[in-house]
Amino acid sequence: MMKSDKVSVSIVLSAVFVASIVIVFVLGCVSDKSGIGSFYVNSEKEIKIPVVQLITTPARTHIGESRAVLSSEFSSKFNSTAIVTKRKNNKLEQVLANVRAAIRKAASIKNKSVIFKNNDLLSGQIYRNPNAFYRSYEEMERRFKVYVYEEGELPIVHDGPCKDIYTSEGRFIHEMEQGNNRFRTRNPEAAHVYFMPFSVTWMVKYLYQPNTYNVTPLKEFVSDYVRIISRKHSFWNKTQGADHFMVSCHDWGPVTSQGNALLYNTSIRVLCNANSSEGFNPKKDVSLPEIHLYGGKVPSKLLHPPPFNSSRPHLAFFAGGVHGPIRPILLEHWKDRVSDISVYEYLPKDLDYYDFMLQSRFCLCPSGYEVASPRIVEAIYAECIPVILSDHYVLPFSDVLRWEAFSIQVDVSEIPRLKEILMSVSEDEYTRLKEGLRAVRRHFVLNKPVKRFDVFHMILHSVWLRRLNLRVG
Ligand SMILES: *[C@@H]1O[C@H](CO)[C@@H](O)[C@H](O)[C@H]1NC(C)=O
Ligand SMILES: *[C@@H]1O[C@H](CO)[C@@H](O)[C@H](O)[C@H]1NC(C)=O
Ligand SMILES: *[C@@H]1O[C@H](CO)[C@@H](O)[C@H](O)[C@H]1NC(C)=O
Ligand SMILES: *[C@@H]1O[C@H](CO)[C@@H](O)[C@H](O)[C@H]1NC(C)=O
Ligand SMILES: *[C@@H]1O[C@H](CO)[C@@H](O)[C@H](O)[C@H]1NC(C)=O
Ligand SMILES: *[C@@H]1O[C@H](CO)[C@@H](O)[C@H](O)[C@H]1NC(C)=O
Repeated sequence: MMKSDKVSVSIVLSAVFVASIVIVFVLGCVSDKSGIGSFYVNSEKEIKIPVVQLITTPARTHIGESRAVLSSEFSSKFNSTAIVTKRKNNKLEQVLANVRAAIRKAASIKNKSVIFKNNDLLSGQIYRNPNAFYRSYEEMERRFKVYVYEEGELPIVHDGPCKDIYTSEGRFIHEMEQGNNRFRTRNPEAAHVYFMPFSVTWMVKYLYQPNTYNVTPLKEFVSDYVRIISRKHSFWNKTQGADHFMVSCHDWGPVTSQGNALLYNTSIRVLCNANSSEGFNPKKDVSLPEIHLYGGKVPSKLLHPPPFNSSRPHLAFFAGGVHGPIRPILLEHWKDRVSDISVYEYLPKDLDYYDFMLQSRFCLCPSGYEVASPRIVEAIYAECIPVILSDHYVLPFSDVLRWEAFSIQVDVSEIPRLKEILMSVSEDEYTRLKEGLRAVRRHFVLNKPVKRFDVFHMILHSVWLRRLNLRVG
């Protein structure tokens, strides 16, 4: 179906281009009112276009609490606007307005203690604002509805990888389509968001010519897909794609999304490669954790980390190839050094990767070819404090989670001082970080069937927050 539609790709692209010019112009209107007169005169049809506003951060008046559910990236940039055509279902918008108010109210509660409710245990220290998160999560469970487009065919649409490094992509698509979850609706009129269930990893497998570095066929596929759903249904045009989302864990997810300018600039892109200097926009995009499953499973050693207080003889551990911009620096300083910092390019045959993680206090997680690393989630499972070594990486769920409660971030320029930095972490601080890891683990676990607060729900909650930040109509 997709292939036969390819002929008119260029026409669609130019139509989309016009649409993006309109957006630029209207955005310009907000800040700069000069010189827009002729534009308005020439395009009366566009005048009716209402504005999508990003809501302000909950409880902004409470200093210290102001980050609430949302992170500082959100609160600082809330004035930007995008456009939307036509009015959406007003009742649905009214409900969302009530939800926003409820979350703001919860965010203002200054009680950070552990929340017990319906057997939920939320350990306050790992959340930016536990009350706001809990309220937002409950509202999501109660109300959030996702429509999944049925267009597109196997193998590229309605499927994705479940046994490799890009598992998060396939597992989400499968769960959304086949899982027995409460979020999918078959009635698109009742939906808050619209999911496009294509797999970039499968595009790479089926459409990409190896070694060409030519991603055009991938972009064309995406362009076709958006064209088809936007012609057949009214929803894309209503919001210019702002309430639509895609999910990709492949390194090329971001570049593939360039196949449609609105998808790239306006839609919610859920991406492992959440590189903020390559167009990842935390206001609207979602950082997806990279979870490496071997043959579809978490390595069994990681399922049972050693007892909390058992000794970990190694200070820090890394083993992996010299990929991307950061690892060469790490290996240059620490590889083959006789030191507590165990850094390998190739792990010697007599050593086991996961045993090493389980026996290390800190696990080094440098970016590779892309910003995300499966080591972060493996370290969480292994209760080995992740040491994040990356530039421009927007960490998963950082709009609700306090990463500083369970990980350490070391600036790339500080890599030469790594040992000193890790040695200076006190025993109390280390215990606190490890308790944080125990508490946060549930948010990074893939379950089948899904469980409350697990990674599926956290991803969906990130999308829910982006949708809440969109005021349509
Ligand atoms: C953001 O919007 C508010 C009112 O909605 C206004 O007072 C404020 O000056 C704006 N900030 C910026 C940076 O435009
Ligand atoms: C804080 O929350 C806990 C648990 O929900 C509750 O037991 C306690 O009374 C609250 N404290 C205040 C000051 O509201
Ligand atoms: C949405 O807009 C595109 C381009 O502007 C147009 O080709 C398409 O027919 C529209 N879709 C619907 C359902 O009207
Ligand atoms: C996103 O929008 C900017 C202008 O705001 C434009 O220059 C850019 O080409 C757009 N990105 C894509 C992938 O179309
Ligand atoms: C670990 O040891 C500390 C004291 O060294 C103790 O307070 C704590 O309860 C222990 N934690 C666990 C989970 O056994
Ligand atoms: C993130 O993006 C910047 C800008 O394109 C690039 O220089 C950097 O290498 C990227 N990071 C990774 C790990 O790919």
